[in-house]
Amino acid sequence: MKSNIDSEKILILDFGSQYTQLIARRIREIGVFSEIVSHRISLKEIHKLNPKGIILSGGPESVYKKNTLKIDPNILNSNIPVLGICYGMQLIAQHFKGKVKTSNKSEFGNTQIKIFKGKIFKKITRKELNVWMSHGDKVTKLPKGFKRIASSKNCTIAAIESIKDKKFGLQFHPEVTHTDNGSKILEAFIKDICKCQAKWRAKNIVKKLVEEIRTKVGDKKVLLGISGGVDSSVAATLLHKAIGKNLECIFVDNGLLRKDEAKQVKKDLKNALGIKINFLNSENLFLKNLKGESDPETKRKIIGKTFIDVFLKEAKKLKKIEFLAQGTIYPDVIESSGIKGGKAHVIKSHHNVGGLPDYLKLPLVEPLNSLFKDEVRKIGFALGLPETLIGRHPFPGPGLAVRMLGEISKAKLDILREADHIFIDELIKAKLYDKVSQAFAVFLPVKSVGVVGDARRYEYVIALRAAETIDFMTARASKLSHDLLNKVSDRIINEIPKVSRVVYDISSKPPATIEWE
Ligand code: XMP
Repeated sequence: MKSNIDSEKILILDFGSQYTQLIARRIREIGVFSEIVSHRISLKEIHKLNPKGIILSGGPESVYKKNTLKIDPNILNSNIPVLGICYGMQLIAQHFKGKVKTSNKSEFGNTQIKIFKGKIFKKITRKELNVWMSHGDKVTKLPKGFKRIASSKNCTIAAIESIKDKKFGLQFHPEVTHTDNGSKILEAFIKDICKCQAKWRAKNIVKKLVEEIRTKVGDKKVLLGISGGVDSSVAATLLHKAIGKNLECIFVDNGLLRKDEAKQVKKDLKNALGIKINFLNSENLFLKNLKGESDPETKRKIIGKTFIDVFLKEAKKLKKIEFLAQGTIYPDVIESSGIKGGKAHVIKSHHNVGGLPDYLKLPLVEPLNSLFKDEVRKIGFALGLPETLIGRHPFPGPGLAVRMLGEISKAKLDILREADHIFIDELIKAKLYDKVSQAFAVFLPVKSVGVVGDARRYEYVIALRAAETIDFMTARASKLSHDLLNKVSDRIINEIPKVSRVVYDISSKPPATIEWE
């Protein structure tokens, strides 16, 4: 039986806004499936997708310019409810014969608006709201059949509605957290106007994904490489629920993992959930191939190539594999779809991850490719994965290699593993682990003098890195207290004889990156 939780969906037409993904996430949070498509989509294509409503994103263009991003006018003439945000509102206004002009006062940031009676504000009791504006153009004459439902000091027409046409426009951004009651506004559009029932919940999503996997792979065997990270673990659990013993997993211990990481994966996935995992201890091979190499890019390439060699050798031993599974998630699909700039029509699944599909030439199963990270976590919990696994900070594919400057050796990796473990342990004890986005130790191959007891110590330096970020594209160093940093430093120097000094990395990204290599 096919699940219907995504049969009620909202389409988001992307006009190049930096907030497009955020709109999609907010709608999912309200409990309705949302999908991002290019602004070039036609009404005919939209009918095939059968959405309950459409949201037009913001964008950097001006609607009155010649080569600007356009919308198929049939969409706005159709009976489908449409909410336009910023540029999207201006498109609606222009289509229905209103006027849009460059504002002599651009509004960026927090602004107060007054709200009047409007269907989209039904759930809001206040008359004034702080909202997030980001525009240079504004609607200066109301479009035909529309009513003004909000105004600000610099923008007398800050929101519009036409109940008859089922078209709505907001000059501000309800999707950003700086807008008061933004989710309530979106909810009114989705539930009251588009009449969605909001069934997009972890339990239902699991049911739907399991059904989809079963339909796609039938009784064939599927191979999945797992890393111990959230995405591949959730993918493994879902696949296991769907096809049981027909799932084969490979976990490669490359010797560049954190302390007890391989043991933990075994405990969480194999013992607790009964998932069959082929564990490969390839530490010696990786370290042999990395020996003598200190260039960051060459180290990454060696690790990538060794991984593929090991994975393929093992995959060949497994008989009758007909599908390759991957833990690709929705943001990866959006990023690689070329949707920005309007190249793609409807975004399609992509083929990623280190060239593996080309090597294996197997059809892909990507059960998470319509989910955002927070949704992957939620369904991970619903599937019974432990908090220790779901809430773990991201860990890069090349592992500790990108946190060990210079040449790599097992002895140095053991020092780094121990220092990293102490730092994370103290963060957990201080209840700060979930507050920082990523934290780890870095091994610096320089020696420095210290005194421990009465003895002189001339040993390595460990750097601590803790970053706070929303999207990992930009980040700030966490403002950890000196008390905590002192405690971590004392423990590292006392417990690890090969370390004489600990430093804290305070650089932001950009210009620095989160990892050191
Ligand atoms: P940077 O260092 O570029 O990292 O600021 C941003 C995020 O990406 C992770 N990262 C990687 N993840 N393979 C991965 O799977 C990699 O080669 C890689 N390099 C960086 C990093 O840990 C951070 O979360």
